[in-house]
Amino acid sequence: MDYDKPIEIAPDVYWVGVNDKEAFFRTNSYLIKGKNESILIDPGSISQFEQIKKKVLSLVPKENIKYMIASHQDPDVCSSIVPFANDGFKFKTVAHSRVSALLLFYNKQLDLYNIDEHDFKLKWDDDKELQFIFTPYFHSPGAFATYYPEKKILFSSDIFGAFQKNWNLFADEKYVDAMKSFNELYAPSKEIVNFSVKKFREKDINIIAPQHGSVIKKEYIEMMFSALENMNAGMFLENGEINVLKMESTNEIPKEVLGDILNIIHKRAATVIGEEKLDKIINEVVDKNDGAELTYDRLLQIIEEIKHRNSFAIAVVKVPLVNYVMDNTEKFKGKVPSLIKDIIYM
Ligand SMILES: [Fe+2]
Ligand SMILES: [Fe+2]
Repeated sequence: MDYDKPIEIAPDVYWVGVNDKEAFFRTNSYLIKGKNESILIDPGSISQFEQIKKKVLSLVPKENIKYMIASHQDPDVCSSIVPFANDGFKFKTVAHSRVSALLLFYNKQLDLYNIDEHDFKLKWDDDKELQFIFTPYFHSPGAFATYYPEKKILFSSDIFGAFQKNWNLFADEKYVDAMKSFNELYAPSKEIVNFSVKKFREKDINIIAPQHGSVIKKEYIEMMFSALENMNAGMFLENGEINVLKMESTNEIPKEVLGDILNIIHKRAATVIGEEKLDKIINEVVDKNDGAELTYDRLLQIIEEIKHRNSFAIAVVKVPLVNYVMDNTEKFKGKVPSLIKDIIYM
């Protein structure tokens, strides 16, 4: 696939995002093409403006872009509205009023369309309609998703996003871990996550198009829904990380959990660092040909080496590790290995 060009994900719906190979997560913008009016969903960042604009203008003339939807105010989502406006694009910015209040700090002259003042709908291009699904606090108070009934597409913004070193525009079953790596860090509570997922479930969806990560086709949607519903959230609060930090620490680790801990680290860190690079790190420390055993010290070395390569790869293992300790306190005899505490502090 040529990611330097727009890619049609459904008839008249295009991915116009940027494949930044250096990054461990990609940003996706989408263009919906109409007869006379076209819409940009999450128009992207200032730093990637030129690339996005080039893709957009290869599909429609400037005058066709009538709306830009800002699912929330984050710079990766919509800071490009500033250069787009400066470049002579004339568009309404579609947002929730809680988002609009902040968008005005990008540009005071924005022509705003507040979805909460329009019954969470937008009529466009004569006979077309978009519906907006309010997803409060996930991860922003005014966050929302966009549903396009005619094509059964859910543009979910950060929800269903992912960290992926090795990226493809379309998700496969491996996407679950990449998605959890991202969403576990952002999800404030299970209640908040499930409020949004429940609303998504009421829609007939063929494609989920998130602002980060990969486009999810029908065959994987149920898998991703249930992953989000069962995912732990708010883990940096009491009951999560803090409870583990309160436990007494030890420099010993039961042999039976060593493999589990390495597996957890591997699953998640691979999404940020790439599987090949991670395997290389692990094999350098635990040389399988030598029959070298995995020990506390070797696990510590692996963690240090991963941190050295990319500290974010350590951030994404915190939540599943905390979970694992809490689910297996008897195996740990009530004490938490200090290397796990170290990871939480990293
Ligand atoms: Fe965001
Ligand atoms: Fe984002």
